[in-house]
Amino acid sequence: MYDDLDKKVAVVTGGSKGLGSAIAVRFGREGMSVVVNYHTDEKGAERTVSAIEEAGGRACAIQADISSDEGARSLLETALSEFGGLDVWVNNAGMENRFPTDELSLDDWKRVIDTNLTGVFLGSRCALQHFMETGKHGSIINMSSVHEKIPWPTFAHYAASKGGVEMFTKTIALEYADRGIRANCIGPGAINTPINKEKFSDPEQYEATVSMVPMGRIGDPEDVASAAAWLASDEARYVTGITLFVDGGMTLYPSFQYGKG
Ligand code: NAI
Repeated sequence: MYDDLDKKVAVVTGGSKGLGSAIAVRFGREGMSVVVNYHTDEKGAERTVSAIEEAGGRACAIQADISSDEGARSLLETALSEFGGLDVWVNNAGMENRFPTDELSLDDWKRVIDTNLTGVFLGSRCALQHFMETGKHGSIINMSSVHEKIPWPTFAHYAASKGGVEMFTKTIALEYADRGIRANCIGPGAINTPINKEKFSDPEQYEATVSMVPMGRIGDPEDVASAAAWLASDEARYVTGITLFVDGGMTLYPSFQYGKG
């Protein structure tokens, strides 16, 4: 637990399930007020809100498409009107779909880039504008992936979006460091969330994924939420521009484990 997070205000995009929900609930346990954004799953967002309130925080759910400027702005406006400020903005929302690149349509390319990369830009810009206006030493946390580093055949648009998130985040970290604003990425790998439901419900694919994780297990959403709480807190006050991988070692070239190669 991080005492300085108590009463702080956060926006979490894509908070109706998966990592966004786990992060929002963890923030609730820290005593924070959370704007829980959802795209289509209103019931999921309401469940997140209830869990935050039960954990001791305050929360409200708001529908918005984070790939649109109006959507991002409505989240900032909600944070200001409902909770009177903003301290932490988590750009978590994201999506993926599989296509061999020669069959990838421009529409599918755009859908993934608009959500995963443009959404991060629009959310970060709202947060930066508020932090600049108020002089607040705020924190931005962007959900990247192990695929900001590891190429992923048949997910070229997804990998391109996450590589973009890494460099975008490093750039704003440098640009605003002298104003005390921090920006970091979290790079999850193989976490048990709805995005992986189909893959992990097939025992063969589940085992295949586990075999790529040096620590030998699939991660829990709470593993990522812990990283988000730390990055948001003052304990990470000298940390900016990094990607904190939460991946059981997936980015460590697992094929070399046990001295192979
Ligand atoms: P998920 O599919 O459970 O959740 C994604 C959330 O984003 C959903 O709530 C969805 O409604 C929301 N979303 C999608 N498009 C949106 C839009 N236009 N506007 C607002 N919300 C939108 O997936 P998960 O696993 O929780 O993923 C969260 C983030 O973590 C994503 O950025 C994903 O790429 C990233 N990630 C997840 C990994 C994993 O193993 N679960 C690994 C690496 C990265």
